[in-house]
Amino acid sequence: MNDPEKNRPGKVKILVTRQFPRVGTDILSGQGFSLTCWPEERPMTYEELSENIKGHQALLCTLTDRIDKLFIRSNPQLEIISQFAVGYDNIDIDAASAAGIPVGFTPDVMSEATADIAFGLMIATARKMFYLHKTILKGEWGYFKPRGNLGMELRGKILGIFGMGRIGMKMAQRCRAAYDMEVIYHNRSRNEEADTLLDAQWVEFPELLERSDVVSVHSVLSDETRGIFDLEAFCRMKPSAPFINTARGPIHNEPDLLAALKAEEIWGAGLDVTDPEPMDRNHPLLSMENVSVLPHIGSGTREARDNMSRLAAENIAAFYKTGTLPHIVNPGVLA
Ligand code: GLV
Repeated sequence: MNDPEKNRPGKVKILVTRQFPRVGTDILSGQGFSLTCWPEERPMTYEELSENIKGHQALLCTLTDRIDKLFIRSNPQLEIISQFAVGYDNIDIDAASAAGIPVGFTPDVMSEATADIAFGLMIATARKMFYLHKTILKGEWGYFKPRGNLGMELRGKILGIFGMGRIGMKMAQRCRAAYDMEVIYHNRSRNEEADTLLDAQWVEFPELLERSDVVSVHSVLSDETRGIFDLEAFCRMKPSAPFINTARGPIHNEPDLLAALKAEEIWGAGLDVTDPEPMDRNHPLLSMENVSVLPHIGSGTREARDNMSRLAAENIAAFYKTGTLPHIVNPGVLA
């Protein structure tokens, strides 16, 4: 970063791995950066990504790109990785930090959109909406059934948030405002804003499972959280409680989730994330009455995606202009 000539935008080549909203790439090309954009709708394979990154100093990528230790070590020319997403579990952050590479991400701007999907999945699951919609398509509407198609009400119930960050807060706010739900949460540390604004209560993980009427996952995927929702965890939940996950699929163990639903250890599941993605179209979860699955659309609003694109571009532009990133995962590398 010390050679101003070397770091002029015109000298910086950026590999853009997906077709992101134009607002971000327009910012970068408008500032004179040289962009190589992957033209296809599908993500690159690891091999294609490893081939295409050659000669590029900056990488604008997203959660479908595996940026592992080998990739980072094989690309000593790489100066910055800018992720179009709030989650960054696809990137080996330790390896990037060891190589002195700052990693940018796009927090906040997609919190409302993702909380809407969590809130929507909670209601859809509680009222079996996806399943009942499918019965109409199959010609099974029949007639109004006074004792049929019954779901559960949410007013006054206990919401258990796993991971009380920005998105967890937005979900909790929605549930409090709409249904006056009591909020409990488990997090590595207490969230004072949640305690004060939402009268939320921090609890240990087993207590979260045992007391919640709805469990909603909003944590990062890490070594600590991978598979934490396993059969043992589901068996601790109330049999009347739905499980909602809009964070990352591998936080739940999917065969265990299926087993818990079949054994009626939990009431239902609302998933915007699965493991793997995409979910097999014949997966048994897709035909269960109390299960609602969406294809990872949490941040999928025009507003959120435009803002994510803008933030991801601004992280690169700011790095080459000032040496810092407004939204950085590993600030220690710039110290
Ligand atoms: C989407 O899943 C994101 O991490 O932004």
